[in-house]
Amino acid sequence: MNTENLPCVKVEKSRGEEIRRALKELKLLRFDARITTNDNFIYLPLIRVLKKDEIEEIGVEKPLIREFEVVEQRRNIEDIIGFKPSYEIVGDIAVLTDADLTAELFVAHALMNLHKNIKVVAKRISPVEGVFRKRKITIIAGENRTETMHKENGCRYKLDLEKVYFNPRLANERNRVASQVDRREKGEIIDMFAGVGSFSIQIAKRAPLSHVTAIDINPYAIQYLRENIKLNGVKNVEAIEGDIKEIYVKFRNRADRIIMNLPKSAYLFLDEALCMLNPQGGIIHFYDVESSYPRGEQRKSLETAITRAKEKLMAKIKEACGREGLLLRSLEILEARKVKPYAPYLYIIGIDAVIGFVL
Ligand SMILES: C[S@@+](CC[C@H](N)C(=O)[O-])C[C@H]1O[C@@H](n2cnc3c(N)ncnc32)[C@H](O)[C@@H]1O
Repeated sequence: MNTENLPCVKVEKSRGEEIRRALKELKLLRFDARITTNDNFIYLPLIRVLKKDEIEEIGVEKPLIREFEVVEQRRNIEDIIGFKPSYEIVGDIAVLTDADLTAELFVAHALMNLHKNIKVVAKRISPVEGVFRKRKITIIAGENRTETMHKENGCRYKLDLEKVYFNPRLANERNRVASQVDRREKGEIIDMFAGVGSFSIQIAKRAPLSHVTAIDINPYAIQYLRENIKLNGVKNVEAIEGDIKEIYVKFRNRADRIIMNLPKSAYLFLDEALCMLNPQGGIIHFYDVESSYPRGEQRKSLETAITRAKEKLMAKIKEACGREGLLLRSLEILEARKVKPYAPYLYIIGIDAVIGFVL
């Protein structure tokens, strides 16, 4: 506990609030020191000794000097380094995301000093790439590791940032999709591109009577997914390693709900997704990267991207049904929204589509 001898005014408790307000208005009250009281009096810490005219104006006795507990003000990174670096935190790893950042080591140490829970600072050195959608990172400071444990929406995910895809900025989106699933739902949910299980496990926890099939082509993602199933104590998730193009036939006509979180390429897997939906149909949570007009006003641009994504998905579903010999009875977009910006004038758009087939 930090203490300091500070000038203060001693007032009767009955006048405490009146005087506190007056001192606050005159910007004389110290906010980082704890006000103290005893049976009859309250002691209000000051930023300096009061002048004679201030004592009269406020109507208090001559200030005293008294010991106060001083609460350390929480500083932010800007106070320390003079600007706001862009970074994201996954577990106890902070990943700097600005490619042009200079003085990385300085920023890294400032981050670790400020957030005692950050044990590693790394930076991105490649975009998300390849079939596994991984990104290369390099460690700047702290422990020499890229594996961590991330907590999100009441679940825990062990993962290695160099071996699997993981984006903490999708936490709200995962919550949004999970909250659409009824807690008593008994259906089959297929997560076609499951990664370490961040959609699958949250949904399985919410709806324990459902069954989630979580598929990924990356063996490391499946290894972590299996660990995460145990870590979160869920019994209704089955992790399957494989290329969905090759294994989808095993899940034909099974799913009531399908998650297709593979922005940019998800269209290439629509045929498989439609074949896996149950014969009456079901819901698809689809992710697309869509552009807006380059110099459009922000609001208009986003609406353009959302409209484009919806129209494209409707058209592609109709084409895929044609190819697969499926007769569409109904196709409704429940909701389409911006999930996050992807690049200038590009957004990840999330679309929930309800599809009905003629039996
Ligand atoms: C964008 S990540 C999404 C991961 C996860 N849903 C999440 O939110 O963290 C896409 C995942 O799809 C997997 N993937 C890519 N192509 C695949 C395929 N043909 N079959 C199965 N999984 C695939 C990648 O390995 C990667 O883990």
